[in-house]
Amino acid sequence: MRITLGVTGGVAAYKAAELVRLLQQDGFTVEVVMTRGAREFVTPLTFAALSGQKVITDLFEKSAAGEANLESAIEHIAVAQRTDLLLVAPATADALAKFARGIADDFLTTLYLAATAPVIVAPAMNVNMWNHAATQENIETLRARGVKIVNPDEGYLACGMTGAGRLAGQQEIITAVRETLRTQKDLENETILITAGPTCEDLDPVRYLTNRSSGKMGYAVAGAAARRGAKVVLVSGPVHLETPAGVERIAVRSAEQMRGAVAERLARSTIAIFAAAVADYRPAELQTEKMKRNGAPLTLRLEPTPDILAEAAQTKGDRLIVGFAAETDHVADNARKKLAAKNADLIVANNVTAEGAGFDYDTNIVTLFSRDGRDLALPKLTKSDVAQRILDEVLRLRGVLRTKTESHRSAV
Ligand code: CTP
Repeated sequence: MRITLGVTGGVAAYKAAELVRLLQQDGFTVEVVMTRGAREFVTPLTFAALSGQKVITDLFEKSAAGEANLESAIEHIAVAQRTDLLLVAPATADALAKFARGIADDFLTTLYLAATAPVIVAPAMNVNMWNHAATQENIETLRARGVKIVNPDEGYLACGMTGAGRLAGQQEIITAVRETLRTQKDLENETILITAGPTCEDLDPVRYLTNRSSGKMGYAVAGAAARRGAKVVLVSGPVHLETPAGVERIAVRSAEQMRGAVAERLARSTIAIFAAAVADYRPAELQTEKMKRNGAPLTLRLEPTPDILAEAAQTKGDRLIVGFAAETDHVADNARKKLAAKNADLIVANNVTAEGAGFDYDTNIVTLFSRDGRDLALPKLTKSDVAQRILDEVLRLRGVLRTKTESHRSAV
């Protein structure tokens, strides 16, 4: 996929350089267009070196003899036709105003009018400029026309003031890019087995041990995968959630039942995602009668449950295995250890103590640790966006691992 990155003249222009690198790491081809203002902050050479492509700066590029040539005069049309998405980051108040009014007086603004691809703008400016009625009206005009706006963050601004105006975080911008481009059914050939929710381990006919898992994360992954065309089997512990459209749900209660359902469906899956919060221990004996209170202290004897993920990963073949890790400290260390110990391909780690992450929230803050060594720290996102990013990473990793296997085969 080809992204045209428009860089306009603001202090945040330097952040666009990092954005080029991150977009490329995510598999996009990036072509950069810089306005005259942007060139006051960063040189085109920086972007040319990073993108590996010529950076477009002028509407009428002059030849050595000082004449404009026809090729450059119609290049904005060629760029408009070949791009899959136009991303403008940072977008100044001036650029937004020109886009809103249809003024086309340089390459970027002309490209904006000529492009039929989706457009995303990530504004960055002084807080008063951002809050000004003129800017806000322009933003509303663009939004109404279908332009996706990645709102600026609040914080300390280069002008010395504090407020909304800082360019949004890189991963937030990339999430918007991915969300906008996600129209294709890129998981059509996959069968994905997902575990979700808590397990309940019975003590007697009325009591059980369980945990606070709501199942929201696993269900979000199931729904997102089904929307992207996968055949999805969701093995779920008891939760109060609706089964996402197009998903086959197998309801289980205990870790043992979850293990049985997974064993039955694993062979037919190409990807297995273990999002369930499986109880690590269960009562060693199940009382058939309700236990009576007798006033004396009670000690429960517990035994470990089977590790469903680790068992599944023992015979994984080409199947990609994704696990979750709920951590309270040393998140990266613990997650990488889990990746190796469980023979998984990807671990989605979250710090459950962070505000806006973990149980019962509709948002999550996770880092994705992949077998090929990449650590992808995501900002606070809705669970549905996190689900999409997990699936994106699974597909990226599948590509990397396949390329490695092929080059290994051709080497032997
Ligand atoms: N898992 C599993 N079966 C178990 C326990 C865990 O399939 N009996 C899976 C979970 O679904 C999750 C991952 O393994 O994908 C979590 O691993 P675990 O070692 O249980 O880690 P945490 O519970 O996050 O943390 P801790 O190591 O502290 O228990």
